[in-house]
Amino acid sequence: MCGIFGVVLKGGRVAPLIHDGLKRLEYRGYDSVGFATLHSGTLQVRKDAGKIDEVVRSLRMDEMEGSIGIGHTRWATHGAPMMVNAHPHMDCDEKLAVIHNGVIENFMELKEELLNKGHNFRSRTDTEIIAHLIEEEMRGDIGFGEAVLTSLRRLEGSYAIAVISISDPGRIYCARYESPLVLGVSDKGTFCASDVPAMLPYTNQVVFLRNGEFASLDAEGFQIRRVQDGTPVQRELTEVTWSLEMAEKQGYPHFMLKEIYEQPSSLRGSLRLQRQYLDLLTAFLDRGEKLFLVAAGTSYHACIAASYMFSRLAKITTFPAISSEFIEQYGDSAAIDTVMLAVSQSGETYDTLKAIDHARMKAATVLGITNTVGSTLTRVSRAYIIQQSGPEIGVAATKTFTSQLMVLAQLALRLARTRGKLSQDEGDDFHDHLQMVPGYVEEVLKRHGEGIKALVEKYSRERLFVFLGRGISASTALEGRLKLLELTYVPSLAYPAGESKHGPISIVEEGVPVVFLCPRGDTRKEIVGSIMEMKARGARIISVCEEGDDDIIGLSDDVIEMPMGIPEALSSIPYVVPLQLFAYYLAVQKGLDPDKPRNLAKSVTVP
Ligand code: M6R
Repeated sequence: MCGIFGVVLKGGRVAPLIHDGLKRLEYRGYDSVGFATLHSGTLQVRKDAGKIDEVVRSLRMDEMEGSIGIGHTRWATHGAPMMVNAHPHMDCDEKLAVIHNGVIENFMELKEELLNKGHNFRSRTDTEIIAHLIEEEMRGDIGFGEAVLTSLRRLEGSYAIAVISISDPGRIYCARYESPLVLGVSDKGTFCASDVPAMLPYTNQVVFLRNGEFASLDAEGFQIRRVQDGTPVQRELTEVTWSLEMAEKQGYPHFMLKEIYEQPSSLRGSLRLQRQYLDLLTAFLDRGEKLFLVAAGTSYHACIAASYMFSRLAKITTFPAISSEFIEQYGDSAAIDTVMLAVSQSGETYDTLKAIDHARMKAATVLGITNTVGSTLTRVSRAYIIQQSGPEIGVAATKTFTSQLMVLAQLALRLARTRGKLSQDEGDDFHDHLQMVPGYVEEVLKRHGEGIKALVEKYSRERLFVFLGRGISASTALEGRLKLLELTYVPSLAYPAGESKHGPISIVEEGVPVVFLCPRGDTRKEIVGSIMEMKARGARIISVCEEGDDDIIGLSDDVIEMPMGIPEALSSIPYVVPLQLFAYYLAVQKGLDPDKPRNLAKSVTVP
């Protein structure tokens, strides 16, 4: 939920690198920022609430001296976004500074203990206790590194931390438990960060620290040990193939727009999955008696769509579940015959990882789909697939949603074939259409990339939107609504169209825009009925339908025409694209930053 970055250089000042690294982590949090550096036996800390560039400029943080330092960009969990709560936090004597991402669950008890021992606290954060704990340990006459290690053993909850001190001026100590942390080495020095893009300008040689690991960094490299018992750990470097350009905006005004336009290529990436992993996941899915598709937010919408695909193709019942509800809703029934397919772009979503913990405890088989190599999800899954979307920086999930659908569709097809539920021709036909999906999306972007702006202009003053679809399009409607809601803050509803007459229709009055997702397929007759119902109440109809679908076009006030021939089971992928564009341009029209919706962070690693 926060971004952390640390560097030990062989020479030169670290402050500009920290600034640059934090900019690349801004998607993780952006309500306050702070740097700490060590120089000539002194610890310097500058921090404040506000966006990175503004704070760095006003406090002249780029000018800070020192070739070793740490920086933090915050998304508040404990204590309001204000200077005193910004990281780094220091001990009483201001000899050490710590930055942290995560939540320390036992911080109240530890704080009370430390207060009783005479420590003075300046902030309301859970993080500050780490600084005082280390200080307290050092009173026992042990070295700084050992004091960090011993303090870590007292923490309950989640953390990725980095800490520096004047008593050990050439080293950064860092560690992780449940929150991500990556180390990197280059000929200039050694790095630690919450995510790879922060260090990509300097190195692509990285190590993903694992849960319960502690590392000591100096300018020449790093050593890893286990927090629990201090045992040394050997780990090979991994070469990251993401280029820096992939992680930057490439000339688009926002990451979100860049990522929407990347979809043809990210979808092609998601078609090139390694066959043996698809086979392995299929084999596990085939063995399950109860099959849960578990995720949060946009990834949950992908799971809903997948439940239609698995039913339609493989004739198998799956239960899509919101990860934060899984334990209450299905936890007691999970058992050894249960398979949980967890879907998470980041692979670090707290709620999803908690659901997984529970499923594992019940001896269920956990499988994963994620975009993040080395993420926690990959380590807790029996088998997993990397969805190959490339890094997504915009907080709103776009290309990762369509790639998740692409992976899930391939799994559904493979499972259908394994179980003999499709004829050879049916299977081949679906396979051919899968290969065509990136092209469909390319076509949609070409047709509507600019045109959607006129639609946005027309509806820019609306105070309510409704999104409706039947069958798999109900998931497209939910995702279109989430994009609009999170980016523009305009209240909006989404429902399966048939359900709307059981309540939601009461909100519809003269002029309310209702967006209908109507690909050609089995649900068409009913969707026409739903459009009529809404029109009768004065709704203005915006339809996303196949080109030349005159019945729907004739009933609509505005139409977004889609390429012909897209099978209904794959329609969510191209049909969501105009909804992503609509939400993006409406946010821009309202003067909002689509890359940083308020109150949201890219990766939700707290309860
Ligand atoms: O990393 P995950 O896929 O587990 O994230 C789950 C949700 O937090 C995420 O999909 C969120 O809803 C989107 N950023 C919304 O656009």
